[in-house]
Amino acid sequence: MKRTILTLVLTAACISAQAQISELVRQGNATQLMHGGKPFIILGGELANSSASSGAYMDSRDTWKYLAESGVNTVLAPVYWELIEPEEGRYDFSTVDYLLKSARANGQKLILLWFGSWKNSMSCYAPSWVKRGFNSEFELAANSDGSTPEIMSAFSERNVRADAKAFASLMKYIRKADGSEGTVIMVQVENEIGMLGDARDHSKLAQNAYNSPVPYDMMYMLTSGKANEHINDVWKAAGKATTGSWKDVFGSSLEADEIFMAYWYARYTERVAAAGKAEYDIPMFVNTALNSRGRKAGEYPSAGPLAHLMPIWKTVAPSIDLICPDIYDKGFASWISKYATADNQLFIPEVRQEPENGARVFYALGHHAAIGFSPFSIDNMPQEKDYPLKKAYELLTPALDLIAEKQAAGKIYGMLADVTKKETVLTINGIDFKCRHDLTLGWNPEAEDPDKWGETAVMIVDMGNDMYLFMGTGVVTTMSPADGKGRVGIERIDEISFDDYGKMQKIRRLNGDENHQGRHIRIPFGEYGAQLLKVYRY
Ligand code: DGJ
Repeated sequence: MKRTILTLVLTAACISAQAQISELVRQGNATQLMHGGKPFIILGGELANSSASSGAYMDSRDTWKYLAESGVNTVLAPVYWELIEPEEGRYDFSTVDYLLKSARANGQKLILLWFGSWKNSMSCYAPSWVKRGFNSEFELAANSDGSTPEIMSAFSERNVRADAKAFASLMKYIRKADGSEGTVIMVQVENEIGMLGDARDHSKLAQNAYNSPVPYDMMYMLTSGKANEHINDVWKAAGKATTGSWKDVFGSSLEADEIFMAYWYARYTERVAAAGKAEYDIPMFVNTALNSRGRKAGEYPSAGPLAHLMPIWKTVAPSIDLICPDIYDKGFASWISKYATADNQLFIPEVRQEPENGARVFYALGHHAAIGFSPFSIDNMPQEKDYPLKKAYELLTPALDLIAEKQAAGKIYGMLADVTKKETVLTINGIDFKCRHDLTLGWNPEAEDPDKWGETAVMIVDMGNDMYLFMGTGVVTTMSPADGKGRVGIERIDEISFDDYGKMQKIRRLNGDENHQGRHIRIPFGEYGAQLLKVYRY
């Protein structure tokens, strides 16, 4: 009897520890981050690069209090190779301990960012014992003119072993220090990987690989139809050879160089990630510096985990669960759509710190069932009480369980509007929801000035029984039957809030001026709100 009870207790403890370890699980229409037995949506923020190097610095700025006030539930924080392994084989995890302790004390989850061999292409976070060996023991990449930027070569066995060992030690430490609590829910491997100066590394080691036969996994990806249009086009233009060196198979071009380099960057990253997962198997991702503004490979960080190279990264780096965009350029909706594919659930680990993020988070969660959203330099976000992201996170926080449930069920939608795209029609259950930027109403004086049209967004949650929950900012919506037959009217609109248990509470009935005497449902520009609509058809 005693033994049975003990077994039961141990099993229960084991199950609960396991439930704390996060994992990515396909649930219906979305891949979700499961934590503590349920989906967890990340309302995140990434610390500025140097903040996590000093707990005293962060404490002196009251960072954790400030993060909590911002509505953040997950902090993305770097772990710096140079600080955790100051001498080869001697580890110091005090910076990690500080993050764990502070995150737990302040009710935050952590995503750790491994600033290892590469940070924004460069190798500035390598420990000094690595740096001193640059161009000798630790190989640097070379440009075609022979110059060697401080970018560790992806072709060096010594480099990858040193990085993988350090990363594995970090993951082992996290498992021991945090495996039962699960404060750390994901890990980013390296940061914005990519070759600069040239599209590929021209060092001796790289040149050897370049002249060697294209490896089997890459060839198989091509011949089994797993590549994308871009890669296929480069292959086709070079004559579609199925054996031979990289030049034989892909020809000589910037694009071919980038494909070669992507393979080797992915291979290196896989070695590092796999070594880490062998110690502690939690979800891992890479982040991407975009190929924006018409730049060519080598002008942007070439060969990183970019959308046009995604099949290579997915094939060669299976330990990387997600490929994530960092958005610092115009065209938020179009950039993120490239990283929301059937085999890659969207997570946005970085987006430039700007007021528009208050709208964008609704779009990302609603339209793409994103796992999460996280502006960069969150610890430097303006502190005003009604800063847009704070308002958005405050509104979303108690509704996250509902949102996650609807993401899995495929019953959540989203639209984003700006001055260039003022309107989107979402068709749901045979109803066209024509969602427009609130300034299209024209009665706001700001409507005349194109510079005043910030981004606005709404998510629409299908609640069943002709009820739709609208959450967001600055969008006005009218409804009509998609087949043009009959009409759709507004039976009622209630402004609502969520209590701490995620249950909807009615604030007031919205009618009269608030719904333009029954003509539309509207969350005004500059305001954040949740409204529950019931429609009728006749
Ligand atoms: C993207 C990088 O990933 C971040 O670490 C940071 O350097 C920002 N760019 C720019 O500040």
